[in-house]
Parts: sequence; structure tokens; C-alpha cells
Amino acid sequence: MDKKVHELLNNQINKEFYSAYLYLDFSNYFKAKGLDGFANWYMVQAQEERDHAMLFYTYLQNENMPVTLEEIAKPDKVFEENMQVLEAGLEHEKYVTSLINDIYGAAYDVRDFRTMQFLDWFVKEQGEEETNANDLISKMELFGSDPKSLYMLNQELAARVYSAPSLVL
Ligand code: FEO
Repeated sequence: MDKKVHELLNNQINKEFYSAYLYLDFSNYFKAKGLDGFANWYMVQAQEERDHAMLFYTYLQNENMPVTLEEIAKPDKVFEENMQVLEAGLEHEKYVTSLINDIYGAAYDVRDFRTMQFLDWFVKEQGEEETNANDLISKMELFGSDPKSLYMLNQELAARVYSAPSLVL
């Protein structure tokens, strides 16, 4: 495997674990606020991110490439209102999309079609995650300021359940 592609894939393991850590912190924020549905939504998101990390980890191992686990950064954002958390989530997903695109570009440059095929799932997944983050912001804009509506939105988000990723390596 090309050195740069390898570095970027290995780095993505850390980025995905950081994403899990970040969303766990979002979940923690909402739990403290008594919004258990929002806390659940971000908890499921954290579980999905852990799965993403493991997919990169397993892909490198399957390719007989070394995996190096690095330190996971501390989620250090301080939020003053609920909407800021949702907006930070969308921003983060856009950042992750840019990382996936960078790996894809590096794989494309060296005609690493196997890595490109592996990344295809993530390209689609990032589209879905940005849509989900956007939808959540829209709902919050519509319903967040009315306590009764916020209660119902919280109930809706409580129904999100974790399911394993459709990509199996
Ligand atoms: Fe694994 Fe939400 O990016």
C-alpha cells in the first residue's frame, strides 16, 4: 500500500474514535440537561463512530498493514445552548467528510482501487450523516423554543436504536 494512503487510513482510526468520544460528550451534555432522547441520539451516534474506527482498523489488518493507535484528543467544546451542540455536530461531520475525501483522493492518485472501493461506503455514509445532522438542526429550529414541542422531539430522538454497520469486512 502507498505510504500516504496508509498514513491517512491509520489516522482515520483515531479521527473516528475521536468522533465517538465527541458524541459521547454531546450525549453527556444532554443527559445533564435532562434531555434523555437527545442523549440517546448522540449515544447511538457514538456507537456508530466506534464502528467506523473498527472498520478502518480491520481494513488495514486485512491488508497486512501495520496499525498504530494514537492518543485520542479531549473533546473540549463548552456549550451554552442546545443548538450549539447540534451545529458542532454538523460542522464535525463536514470535517470528517473532508478527511474521507482526502483519503479517497490519495488512493485515486496511486490507482488503489481496493481502498477506493472500501471508502465508497464511507462516502455514502458521510452524506447520510450530514443529512441527519442537518435534519436535527431544522427540527430544533422549528420546535426547540417551545417546551411542549421540545418534549416531543426529545421523545422522537429517544426512539433511535443502534444497528451494526451494513459494511462487513
Ligand atoms: Fe464516522 Fe460521522 O463520521
